[in-house]
Amino acid sequence: MPTYEATVSAPVNIACIKYWGKRNTSLILPTNSSLSVTLSQDHLRSTTTSSTSQEYAPGDRLWLNGREEEIVTGGRTQVCLAALRQWRKEVEEKDSAAPKMSEWPLRIASYNNFPTAAGLASSASGLAALVYSVSQLYALPQTPSQLSLIARQGSGSACRSLFGGFVAWEMGTRDDGSDSLAVQVADHGHWPEMHALICVVSDAKKGTSSTSGMQKTVATSSLLQHRIHHVVPARMEEISRAILARDFTTFASLTMQDSNQFHAVCMDTSPPIFYLNDVSRAIIAVVEELNRASLAQGKGMVAAYTFDAGPNAVLYALEENMHVVVHTINQFFPQTQDFPDPFGMLASPAGAGA
Ligand code: PMV
Repeated sequence: MPTYEATVSAPVNIACIKYWGKRNTSLILPTNSSLSVTLSQDHLRSTTTSSTSQEYAPGDRLWLNGREEEIVTGGRTQVCLAALRQWRKEVEEKDSAAPKMSEWPLRIASYNNFPTAAGLASSASGLAALVYSVSQLYALPQTPSQLSLIARQGSGSACRSLFGGFVAWEMGTRDDGSDSLAVQVADHGHWPEMHALICVVSDAKKGTSSTSGMQKTVATSSLLQHRIHHVVPARMEEISRAILARDFTTFASLTMQDSNQFHAVCMDTSPPIFYLNDVSRAIIAVVEELNRASLAQGKGMVAAYTFDAGPNAVLYALEENMHVVVHTINQFFPQTQDFPDPFGMLASPAGAGA
């Protein structure tokens, strides 16, 4: 009996317009659309191998970085696998010669090429790689946008990692979630000069998970209502236009405004959620000053900061300015402790894109 196998990689994505809030927690339907940049495959990525065989012992099994994880019944991984099996069944119904893989147990092993404990988003790349590898194993005909419908149910932001470059997650309007999916705004080749620098401020595990933080924000923040109705829709259009026009100053100012509003919404939550620390705020001040000085000379902005649900900064800059950004950050924030960086990727700017 043959064993079938597929291996793929999916990179981390970092949002410029943040997803924060679910209107449906089981289907993972967001309260607003979001937009991100997918980092290069050469840097932060998850690599996943899925295999299936009629001879495997019953039950699916999953390993993350060599450690077996339980696939919880009704949990997110299981929801993704059930949806992928359903699509495989459709393939088998259309083609009677196709092996009945949908009935066989799965073995899935996933590795991150970056330290998992570093406080860097790993669920997005992990779930995207899982969904994509099983879709390849099953030879599914679905497009990446259709696959994003499934990845979204594993971890919301994972849906955006199915594409490289600049990616929007459209919130959709339907209750069944069938139009809440990722679409590519522009590929990496459209703006290859865009680079990202990841500044690890703290590798401690975050205090409030995104899942519980979002729930509290949706339940208590009036600022979130303003954000989702009056801010994000226009911002999504403006940033998409800025990306298509390769207008870094507009891209940067929208990215920073959105990061700041996301953290304001966290503070407007009851009880308030604080993800930034003093070093994060100092990074904001340094980048703001770099930009102020550059604008004063009649030039464009130099860098944009953005922070997810933790204190670590991601700085976007054009390649021509990245040396100034790296130099300035190193000057103000000399490395205080050794960081496990086996691939040397955190010392150098990561090129965005697939
Ligand atoms: O997909 P989650 O549940 O990890 O939430 C991600 C939330 C943010 O990273 C803060 C924002 C985003 O759009 O990625």
